[in-house]
Amino acid sequence: MSQKAWGGRFSEATDARVEQFTESISFDARLAPYDIRGSQAHATMLAEQGLLTDDERDQIITALDEIGEQIKAGQFEHRIELEDIHMHIEQALIQRTGDVGRKLHTGRSRNDQVATDVKLFLRDACDHVCELLTNVQKAFVARSDRDLDVVLPAYTHLQRAQPVMAVHYWLAWCEKFDRDRLRLQDSRARANVSPLGCAALAGSSLPINRRRTAELLGFDGIARNSLDVSSDRDFLIEFVSHLAQIAIHLSAWAEEWILWCTTEFKVLQLRDAYTTGSSIMPQKRNPDVLELIRGKSARVIAASQQLMVLAKGLPLAYNRDLQEDKIPVFDAYDTIVACLELCAAIVETAELKRDSITARLEEGFLDATTLMEYLIKQGVPMRTGHETVGTLVALCEKKGCRLADLSLEEFQQACDLVQENVFDSLGVQNAVNAFVTEGSGAPEQVKTQLAFWKDKLSE
Ligand code: ARG
Repeated sequence: MSQKAWGGRFSEATDARVEQFTESISFDARLAPYDIRGSQAHATMLAEQGLLTDDERDQIITALDEIGEQIKAGQFEHRIELEDIHMHIEQALIQRTGDVGRKLHTGRSRNDQVATDVKLFLRDACDHVCELLTNVQKAFVARSDRDLDVVLPAYTHLQRAQPVMAVHYWLAWCEKFDRDRLRLQDSRARANVSPLGCAALAGSSLPINRRRTAELLGFDGIARNSLDVSSDRDFLIEFVSHLAQIAIHLSAWAEEWILWCTTEFKVLQLRDAYTTGSSIMPQKRNPDVLELIRGKSARVIAASQQLMVLAKGLPLAYNRDLQEDKIPVFDAYDTIVACLELCAAIVETAELKRDSITARLEEGFLDATTLMEYLIKQGVPMRTGHETVGTLVALCEKKGCRLADLSLEEFQQACDLVQENVFDSLGVQNAVNAFVTEGSGAPEQVKTQLAFWKDKLSE
């Protein structure tokens, strides 16, 4: 093995198993573009502060650009004895520029360097996930116009409850994914302060300019406390927790659509492109993608727990445990990206099975609550109305009919305040039209919501 970059203090070579055990290049290599950007900003600042000459700065920046190109082209060799991406790039720089490259790490430690790299990654990752969330919302909105003719049963306890416009469902998911987006933006803003220049944990006695590197890297300011910076990973815990919340939403959506695709529900048909067959049963069209979106949520939720457990027992400041943070962060991010991309595609292309929805829409007394509210409007106390409709539902079950099939006499026997106009509240279409409250599932309310989302998503 090499006598490392910090080699002076060591007289014995590192055990090969230790090199294998402590390396992170196998998972932090993807930080390379951020590491290069951070180092270029650092070099620019060092030159401004008189810690590098302009010529040295230019040599460093040019060599780092070349290294970046080499990495992009897949021509960059990884050697585990160089541990991590930071050491790899620094060594490559020294190979190209000699003593000039040996000056780059002035006033910096890998502790503030890695925190900076990860924050730069996090900003891009947040932006990308937000964009993908918006694409999912757009997919729901895009299909809304063609689904405005469909009423669906809505459920509580997975029992038929009340009718809503199908679009009410679509826009409910838009709301959830919107909160997910806002949470990410909120954490991104909190995380966007620069760690660079906190060095190992206590700062530097060299006249470096932290505000300048913060500015060059697009941070909103600098982190106040160097000891905090060196150990701070709560920005990652926040990020991955928000990804876990997205995964929870995606999983619940997938579960619902899996049910809807069954012969039992017959509400939805996925496109062939997003289903899979069975190796033995020729008739099958399985919603494997939805099942895996549900299944992969476990990974993302586990990633957030992994980070929390990782951070909970660490004294200030940097501890090598923190190197393990990247594994769950990258895995959770990659998983969510893949899930959101497929979610948008499935949302956009699945078809509602209008015939079977309509054929069964009048089942399950979806208009019972509307009938009760009719009684309230006629002056019946709510609890009495509730009981009355309960007995009418029981009567229908005995007769095997719908509420709308009962006669006026039967209604009046149950409650003498019922009039002929009761039939205007009965049947699913009447019931869905009857909602007047803001945010309800009635056609007019849903159209208002839809206009809101179209406007918001076109911004
Ligand atoms: N690869 C390390 C990590 O990801 C970089 C920081 C190493 N710092 C140290 N003091 N050994 O955390």
